[in-house]
Amino acid sequence: MLRGLFRTKNLDDILAAVAGPQFALKRTLGAFNVTLIGIGAIIGAGIFATVGSAAAGDSSVGRPGAGPSLMLSFVITAVVCGFTALCYAELASMVPISGSAYTYSYATMGELIAWIIGWDLIIEYAIGNVAVAISWAEYFHKLLLNLGIPFPHWLAADYRSAMLLSAEAPAEYAQLFGSAPVLFGTPIIFNLLAFGIVALLTIVLVWGIRESANFNAGMVLIKVLVLLFFVGVALYFVPTSQMASNWRPFQPQGWGGTFAGAALVFFAYIGFDAVSTVAEETKNPARDLPIGIIGSLIICTIFYIVVAAVFTGLIPFPELQKVSSSGQAEALTMALDYVAPPGITWPQTIVAFGSVVAHTAVLLVFQLGQPRIFMSMARDGLLPSWFASVHPRFKTPHVTTILTGIFVGGIAAFANIESMLNLTNIGTLFAFLLVCIGIPILRHKDPDRTRPFRVPFGAYLMPLLGAASCIFLMYYLAADTWWRFIGWLVLGLSIYLAYGYTRSAIGMKMGRPSRTPTPLKIAAFGFFALAVGLFTVPHHIGFVGVFDAASTAADINHNRALFGVAFIVIGLLLGIIGLVMAKSSQASSDTGQNG
Ligand code: ALA
Repeated sequence: MLRGLFRTKNLDDILAAVAGPQFALKRTLGAFNVTLIGIGAIIGAGIFATVGSAAAGDSSVGRPGAGPSLMLSFVITAVVCGFTALCYAELASMVPISGSAYTYSYATMGELIAWIIGWDLIIEYAIGNVAVAISWAEYFHKLLLNLGIPFPHWLAADYRSAMLLSAEAPAEYAQLFGSAPVLFGTPIIFNLLAFGIVALLTIVLVWGIRESANFNAGMVLIKVLVLLFFVGVALYFVPTSQMASNWRPFQPQGWGGTFAGAALVFFAYIGFDAVSTVAEETKNPARDLPIGIIGSLIICTIFYIVVAAVFTGLIPFPELQKVSSSGQAEALTMALDYVAPPGITWPQTIVAFGSVVAHTAVLLVFQLGQPRIFMSMARDGLLPSWFASVHPRFKTPHVTTILTGIFVGGIAAFANIESMLNLTNIGTLFAFLLVCIGIPILRHKDPDRTRPFRVPFGAYLMPLLGAASCIFLMYYLAADTWWRFIGWLVLGLSIYLAYGYTRSAIGMKMGRPSRTPTPLKIAAFGFFALAVGLFTVPHHIGFVGVFDAASTAADINHNRALFGVAFIVIGLLLGIIGLVMAKSSQASSDTGQNG
């Protein structure tokens, strides 16, 4: 038992598996298109929405704001992503197939880590899209209102954000949400718009309208033009001398604010890695993928720094804090609202339109990518084979596309954008971390393989700087995110032990048992309970606070904390007992095979 957890897939096998003509995708993309695909995946909710919160901070969770140093936050994050982009470029040029980080880690660090990455990529792709869908809804709502089309706020927001608003600004809450129907004393508030866009895109993707390179290029053009338009209009409304005075003090809340801002705007850069998923459709992947990955990152970085500079130049920091606390996440239109002469709304309408287009492009890329990753995992046996099934008529992975749609749309209807952004960032940074670590491992394990692109300065310097900087940004993310993130990883471990371990294609060849043995069932059950506990404890009161609340009957969070802690302790115990039992039964049956 527990044999071969770190057994790697052979790179030659991986490459051979997709080399047959039956699998060959049409290679039509050049470096230019690949770069555009990168930009298509990158520019979205991050620049249009997170900038407001990153600059202003969030006093309710004790996160300082970057203020005008937001431009520096973007530079810091670009450097972090730069290290990772080099690592992605080396791996993508060496293993030009579409499974991305999941496939690379199967080849470098073995099955368990590959499963963890695949599971973790659900956070990047699906939870990331939850955040993009919520942000889409906010801009779409703004667009409707600007065009004079009324749409109730209670169908375009989540309950938690509405309650935060009711606590901080009761009058505004009453104005926006007063008309919400009430059931058993609770106002009904959910994000129908966010659910609706995901449902619509899911139907489109099942139908099989694949994003074509031209369509993507069109959307990229609109995004770029609208960002330029924002900059131009802002400069027209606000003189540069005024901007310069709004940039002082540069770091109103110190380096802590700059770093916390960097950790949050990391979301804006997510997507350059998605370039690696079109490896099999690229004419000369060894050359074009590194160009696409690094080129799209550089271009977006330039745009982001300029937009951040202009955005923070429009509103003085104290005002920005006030405006942002109203819960509005449509940062760029909010800033224009602030500086436009009374009655002028058309520039905001144009920005809102461009933003809706940008968000839609990102949603499409990730909603298309997630099912592909599920398919790769199902082909390896780590998920049920029906995850890999393809619709007989539409020739699309309809099962995983619909599942992804239900998951993303369902959560987007109720979730708060801030918590989803944080969770996406931590999950993606973790995937990046493992990709960086993969470089020295693979250089060591497989030194002679042709590497058309090599990370400069040797196998260690850049990748280890990349890994360290990912950890650095993870540290600066909101503390409550860690509970959810670790809960998610533990849930994944539970599923792997209960299912993937015995069903894995590699495991079957190695003679693992065909049914999940009892010790692993115990461990899986334990980790499941542990995950429930981690998701349940009140996340906002800190690690020590949770245990204090659990032990103090009078504490307002007592019941929730006690329930969660009980699950954590029992789950951890069962998990460890199950693993120890599994290990000892392996030791007694093992005759010395390598694990
Ligand atoms: N980078 C993408 C966005 O900002 C995920 O929407």
